[in-house]
Amino acid sequence: MKDLSKTQIRTRIEPGNPQVKEESAPPCTVIIFGALGDLSKRKLIPALYNLYQEGDLPEHFAVLGLNRDQTDDHGFRESHKESTDRYSRTKPEKWDAFSNNLHYIPGDFTESDSYNKLRVKLEEVEAKHLTEGNRIFYLATPARFFPLILEQLQSANLLHEADGEPWSRVIIEKPFGTDLGSAKELNTLVGKRLSESQTYRIDHYLGKETVQNILVFRFGNTIFEPLWNRNHIDHVEITAAESIQVEGRGRFYDQTGVLRDIVQNHLLQVMALIAMEPPVSFEADDIRNEKVQLIHSLRPMEMGDVIRGQYQGYKNVEGVGDQSRTPTYVAMKIMVENWRWQGVPFYLRAGKGLAAKETEVSIHFRSIPLCLFNNDKESQSVQPNVLTLRIQPEEGISLRFVSKVPGDDLSVGNVHMDMSYAEAFQKPISEAYERLILDCMRGNQTLFARRDGVEKAWTFITPILDAWARDKNSPIAIYEPGSDGPKEADALLQRDGRAWTTIG
Ligand code: BG6
Repeated sequence: MKDLSKTQIRTRIEPGNPQVKEESAPPCTVIIFGALGDLSKRKLIPALYNLYQEGDLPEHFAVLGLNRDQTDDHGFRESHKESTDRYSRTKPEKWDAFSNNLHYIPGDFTESDSYNKLRVKLEEVEAKHLTEGNRIFYLATPARFFPLILEQLQSANLLHEADGEPWSRVIIEKPFGTDLGSAKELNTLVGKRLSESQTYRIDHYLGKETVQNILVFRFGNTIFEPLWNRNHIDHVEITAAESIQVEGRGRFYDQTGVLRDIVQNHLLQVMALIAMEPPVSFEADDIRNEKVQLIHSLRPMEMGDVIRGQYQGYKNVEGVGDQSRTPTYVAMKIMVENWRWQGVPFYLRAGKGLAAKETEVSIHFRSIPLCLFNNDKESQSVQPNVLTLRIQPEEGISLRFVSKVPGDDLSVGNVHMDMSYAEAFQKPISEAYERLILDCMRGNQTLFARRDGVEKAWTFITPILDAWARDKNSPIAIYEPGSDGPKEADALLQRDGRAWTTIG
């Protein structure tokens, strides 16, 4: 069959009016713990800068950073000027005006004295920038410090009520635990100091435009939802491939591995959005209820359906043990035990050191039911329709379908109808952190993980981690850096008569 995949059918976009007009964010101060760390430099301050540049921040806002380094407001601004220059998606042309809102206080967050100093400085900053006492505490520190920081904030009377005036909210970074037990413990400790409605557990995947679009695509169009089930869908592939290796994060990664780093959070969230039932409304808890329900209906994994891999050379990375069995790649076949998805496999794979950076979801529809073209060979080679949601990069959506190739012969080929966000909307896609920080300012928790959702995901993942920990002997599949992963992962699909989509 001819491959006409280069044939693109152009899409015409007719932007509509906003269905939900977001309110502007109220005055507030963002207090960052770990304000000179990697996350702050690469993501948080650049995100705040871009929000400022786009006019999305409230008129009255401030940032107060806390870190061990002995520097002052000026030193803090200079340090972030350099990193924002490097990591921001836009050139920081309005940096000077923006940076007037940045403040800093040196301190060790394990010492109670730091919190008294923090209070004095915070009140000064709040008075100067008229932020009305509203506070977002951003804990960009290792998770083991969360309980301590929250306890200290509470003892120092720095936390307001969730919905009071003024209010306080707390953003916490992943990982929320390392297994079910530790996640529950962490949630309990956090729950002692904060109500659920002021706890914002960030999973940056949920802030990606293309991930948010999954629900709009599914429930904003009538033509897909009737097909979105076991009667029409053969299988679903979800891939999160990264070409980068573990870089300078050897020590952290060796204790984490791909299942905790990507699958427990990002990939299960994407899968939940793809497979969940329609929510009663687009309110935060209605959406989160359906996602939790979906994760709850995952069939416990059979270990024969999970393949773990490690890229060649991983053990030589600084901080990685020379006998390390930590997987940098995983492929798994997940079954969903509910009416809609009974019998439809979801194949997930994620890994580092692969052929390309590519995150996408492919919905493979069933094959045509009979031979229409009077020629067995030809009809068998007619490939099923595939709908691909490209999460990143080259964000877009494409649909593969069969078409007659012009001419006297009855010849069929595949064509791709392709929508690219960049071309269609002619507007840069904002970074996930921008959306998430802004949502926290507005008090919208839709894109943040809820306690029960996190625990349900760990309930599914922990038995796999436990089985791996018990099994000290079976080999881990080794793969070449720059490849599509280990051949054992291919076998996982081959035995079902299927194949992975090539990465890159
Ligand atoms: C993070 C992981 O959560 O997500 C990293 O800890 C990974 O290991 C990153 O590289 C991938 O995020 P993105 O947005 O680049 O796909």
